[in-house]
Amino acid sequence: MLKKLEQILLDFEKQVKQVKTPADLDNVKSIYAGKDSPLTQVLKNLREVDPETRKLVGEKANETKTKIFGQINQIQDDFKYAELKKQLENEKVDLTLPGINLTKGTKHPLNLVIEEIADIFKGLGYDMIDGTEFETDEFCFQKLNLPVGHPARDMQDTFYVDKNTVLRTHCTNMTARLLTNLAKTKVAEKNLAAISYGNVFRRDDDDATHSHQFTQIDGFAVGKKISFANLKWILEYMCKRLFAPTTEIRMRPSYFPFTEPSVEVDITCVTCAGLGCKICKFTGWIEILGAGMIAPEVIELNGLDPSQVGGLAFGIGVERVAMLKFGIKNIRDFYENDTRFLQQFKFFGD
Ligand code: DAH
Repeated sequence: MLKKLEQILLDFEKQVKQVKTPADLDNVKSIYAGKDSPLTQVLKNLREVDPETRKLVGEKANETKTKIFGQINQIQDDFKYAELKKQLENEKVDLTLPGINLTKGTKHPLNLVIEEIADIFKGLGYDMIDGTEFETDEFCFQKLNLPVGHPARDMQDTFYVDKNTVLRTHCTNMTARLLTNLAKTKVAEKNLAAISYGNVFRRDDDDATHSHQFTQIDGFAVGKKISFANLKWILEYMCKRLFAPTTEIRMRPSYFPFTEPSVEVDITCVTCAGLGCKICKFTGWIEILGAGMIAPEVIELNGLDPSQVGGLAFGIGVERVAMLKFGIKNIRDFYENDTRFLQQFKFFGD
């Protein structure tokens, strides 16, 4: 039996030397450490031998068992260690590599212009509000002296949502809303100056300078003693701050149903400073906004007394200002959100 045990150990050692993979080891383990292993066979027969030999064989069998299990455990640990090492190597992080830079966003040029204009008017004491893009026919037109059937409605090709609701064609709707609110307040002095800004919509021809959706800033001031001179000063001040201190303005008579008189305001060309170039079609002037004194009819339609209060008003196309300011040729550049285009404005604003 002792011989047999030696043979078992020899066989085991021979086979264990061949082990290359965990699967090989499992195989050897199932032979030498399983329930029916040659060692178990020897131990089973142990009770048939005399006590003297039994002691010897028992000791030898234990020794053999310890050696076999010891080696199996050792190899198992080696495999586990090799596996762990491989895993750690694969997951190695090189801390000396440069990190991934987080790129900072930029402000959209239209927002830059809105912020700049808002800043100018806030400094003059104007409130700033946004407003409703869905608007009733009443506030978009009727309360601005554009009754149903008025020919001037054609100036603003309108998207109708239903018979009484439109996508607002201008931000002047907020003038009507704010004047109506002001009329309802209990305060005796009906003073208010505000600008509103936001998206407006028109069934306009889409070309390089027109889009069916664009952005406006609309402003007004109402109170007791507001004159045309105030309007001229405010617009001149705004244009000088917005473009250049040397910018001049000129006013041409125009027509808007909600203002009387109405003007269109030109500035000296931003490109040639008035000398004449392609941008200003060699006139030296560029049209920039519409304005006027709020028509008495509009004051009245919104519940205020035109013998007590009057006001000035103006409407600015944000895209137009941004195109002139930044030399942008195609209005669609504003809406495509191509980051290569937007990145160019990272040095403007704060
Ligand atoms: N609402 C006009 C438009 O969209 C622009 C405008 C002109 C607004 C004169 C005004 C204004 O407030 O006084 O074409």
